Amino acid sequence: MQSLAIIGSQWGDEGKGKITDLLGQKCDVVVRYQGGNNAGHTIIVGTKKIVLHLIPSGILHDHCVSVIGHGVVFDPRAFKEELEDVKRGGIDVTPQKLRISENCSVITFYNKLLDGQREAKGPVKIGTTGKGIGPAYEDKTSRKGIKLKDLMNKEVLRAKLEANLIEKAVLFDHLYKVDYPAVEEEVEKLFELGKLIEPFLCDTFSFLDESIQQDKRVLYEGAQGVLLDIDYGSYPFVTSSSTSAGGIYTGAGLPGKYVDEVLGITKAYTTRVGEGPFPTELFDEVGEKIQRIGGEFGATTGRKRRCGWLDLPLLKYTVKASNITSIALTKLDVLSGIENLKLCYAYEYEGKEIDCAYPGIDLAKVKPLMKDMKTFNDDFKDNNQSSELQEYIDTIEKAVGIKVGILAHGPERSEIKFKQDYFQ
Ligand code: GDP
Ligand code: IMO
Ligand code: MG
Repeated sequence: MQSLAIIGSQWGDEGKGKITDLLGQKCDVVVRYQGGNNAGHTIIVGTKKIVLHLIPSGILHDHCVSVIGHGVVFDPRAFKEELEDVKRGGIDVTPQKLRISENCSVITFYNKLLDGQREAKGPVKIGTTGKGIGPAYEDKTSRKGIKLKDLMNKEVLRAKLEANLIEKAVLFDHLYKVDYPAVEEEVEKLFELGKLIEPFLCDTFSFLDESIQQDKRVLYEGAQGVLLDIDYGSYPFVTSSSTSAGGIYTGAGLPGKYVDEVLGITKAYTTRVGEGPFPTELFDEVGEKIQRIGGEFGATTGRKRRCGWLDLPLLKYTVKASNITSIALTKLDVLSGIENLKLCYAYEYEGKEIDCAYPGIDLAKVKPLMKDMKTFNDDFKDNNQSSELQEYIDTIEKAVGIKVGILAHGPERSEIKFKQDYFQ
């Protein structure tokens, strides 16, 4: 195997950072291809906690080249902060180790402002991270976006920002009635930040092409999860990018090849941050207990994550939607010892029983059908699983039709069991 994608199979925060960091040890290149600094990927190394938002999780390995592909929306201000933060953590970040596509779309101050105003004053609150992701992708698809390479030329930047602000100014002045910086102020700020970013810029498509031709091992690090995908997710409560494996082909480029395997990172239960329907959500003390033991707080916004049981109709769907070939089941330690363990095996929806979701299904209207599972009390000290845990895993494998290749039972690098070899 030469290429593997890490995809969140739920609503994000499944533990992608930890798995990317571990498998990144065996790779030459780690690539982010969609989303932006709405992501929060946590890696624990000993007593150190590193949270990456924009920089790929391969950055912790000196032999790895980390790539930010052109499908990522890039906030230069956030990048400066993250770079300083990561360097303060003792991690070396050089232009040899980090390559950023000159064609990434830029998140401007105006995008972030618009995101915040819509959330505060708009008719539907999505519960976004407030990072300007949606408005930046809107600019990109409406062909008014700023690209990172534009930051190198003040005249180009000024002309594009002026054109870009025409419609937004009307919204800021008349709809939201909010102050915003003059174009010249934003030009100066972005031009200055451009100088910091310039050494990292390159044609990442050709870099990846050459790496693939040279049989380098490439890991694609997805952000968010399939249920937040703009097409496959629980629309409108989604993010604005293609979070499924499909996003790799448009957001990074995989010249002349397909990704060999897709690893679906799956929390042993379900969490969600932000608004939107959540069929197996728990509103009782069991949900609170999982939230507490699992430390379920957003890595980007610090918000409490909503918690619920594992949802097999959703998992079966995301496995199909993202061509997932095996599963990494994470946070099993959190479920260990939980009494009255349950999982959802099907939905009652529009008078029928269904065991697989699909695009456009109204998750607010499904009735989850629950199955009682036996409590497992594993301490994960050796390589064996209790029969109760094995039954939990078997039930998942049977429902989704693929194998669980990894069991994670703690945040640290060592707290993992490989049932399958990746990049042997
Ligand atoms: P990501 O966005 O998918 O990378 O996930 P986050 O970093 O946002 O959230 C996952 C959280 O769970 C982080 O705090 C991780 O350190 C932690 N974590 C990852 N795997 C495990 C696990 O198997 N058990 C426990 N207890 N924590 C884990
Ligand atoms: P990682 O990569 C969990 C959610 C937000 C909100 C919706 C839209 O760490 O798994 P956005 O700011 O993207 O427009 O918000 O998507 N969201 C995430 N939830 N993990 C993430 O990333 C997320 N990125 C965005 O909470 O509901
Ligand atoms: Mg996260």
